[in-house]
Amino acid sequence: MTKINPHDPLHTGIGIIDSQHQMFFTLLKKIKDHNFKQNPDGLSDIIDELHLYTLFHFETEEKLLEEYNAPEIEKHKKMHAMMADKIEEYRLHIMTDSCILTEEISIFLENWLVDHIQNTDIKAFASI
Ligand SMILES: [Fe+2]
Ligand SMILES: [Fe+2]
Repeated sequence: MTKINPHDPLHTGIGIIDSQHQMFFTLLKKIKDHNFKQNPDGLSDIIDELHLYTLFHFETEEKLLEEYNAPEIEKHKKMHAMMADKIEEYRLHIMTDSCILTEEISIFLENWLVDHIQNTDIKAFASI
């Protein structure tokens, strides 16, 4: 599991944001470890949790960015909104078709998280 520490390239330097980002990697691990055969409904529960946590994190992060008047907030918010929509899309898909690939979701989530934290969150928080 990716662990965010002060020497990690995913470290933003803002404690609450780093700990919330860490929670995403915990959820990512849950998705990767999920055994569909043993628990066919389990993935839906994890994606529900991911969906709620995503909305919670984006709200926390956007409030902080606004409070510190960080640059390019609107662009940042649009990226968050697109990600929230994508997770909602997966959530609805799983409810109607439980055969969706765990691997597809985990690859998408990991790529998005690492890219967004490194290229958007860290830059935004470095400027405040
Ligand atoms: Fe962000
Ligand atoms: Fe973030």
